[in-house]
Amino acid sequence: MTQRDQYEGAYFTPSGGLVWHWRALWRRRYWMDFIDSVAAALDHWHPPQKKLLLLGPSAGWCLPTDFLVRFKEINAIDLDPLAERIFRFNHGRPLNNAGTKLNFDLENIFTSFDAILERFPDHAILFPNMLGQHLYHVADTDTARVEIEAVKEKLASRHWASIHDRLSGKIRSGAPLPTSFSTREALTPESLAIKLGLSGEWVDHLTTHVLPEGTERRLVGWRLLDSWIHIVEIAAVAPR
Ligand SMILES: C[S@@+](CC[C@H](N)C(=O)[O-])C[C@H]1O[C@@H](n2cnc3c(N)ncnc32)[C@H](O)[C@@H]1O
Repeated sequence: MTQRDQYEGAYFTPSGGLVWHWRALWRRRYWMDFIDSVAAALDHWHPPQKKLLLLGPSAGWCLPTDFLVRFKEINAIDLDPLAERIFRFNHGRPLNNAGTKLNFDLENIFTSFDAILERFPDHAILFPNMLGQHLYHVADTDTARVEIEAVKEKLASRHWASIHDRLSGKIRSGAPLPTSFSTREALTPESLAIKLGLSGEWVDHLTTHVLPEGTERRLVGWRLLDSWIHIVEIAAVAPR
């Protein structure tokens, strides 16, 4: 028996909910470079499956509709009770026009991860910026890290991709974002910060080793707020 997440079905959560939707509504127009980077990466991801499992998509504010309509069926799982309605507002019409079936479930991905994978055996899987949020849902850092790092073993036989936070922190308003780059190396938070020229204190989102060793990944900056940025990693993984 797993414990119910205190945030399941809640309107305010540390990684989504009302605050996230409000922010996205007002700031999305400043996120276009980041959204374009996500779209470019997903454009190169062509899993053979026609079904997609979206784990923690919120309302898909940063997800390209062109990518979503490539699938015949999308199953989405999120803790946020508002996610489905706003996702349908953001993407519903083109999905309908393309004949893509969309189903949403309100569930905690980490308390029923194995059962979810069994429920959707024929789906490619995308984590659209949720793995780096797990530290906000678990009381201790070690548990969060272990659960995040276990994902790659559980998905060893699946096609999957992930967009996840590596670091976040303060930046001077108006300062340029660090330059994006690609690597196969799982840089530690410290070496990543040095490589990007970041100084000061940075939140480590515990995702250093979420990808299998040697996976090609792209690191991009995202100005979430005027003076708060995230360094986001994007990668696709094929079955081993
Ligand atoms: C930053 S938002 C994702 C944003 C999304 N990429 C977009 O374009 O709008 C993270 C989402 O992950 C969800 N989430 C985080 N941990 C979760 C969990 N354990 N189970 C289900 N959903 C989770 C949150 O509810 C939130 O909607």
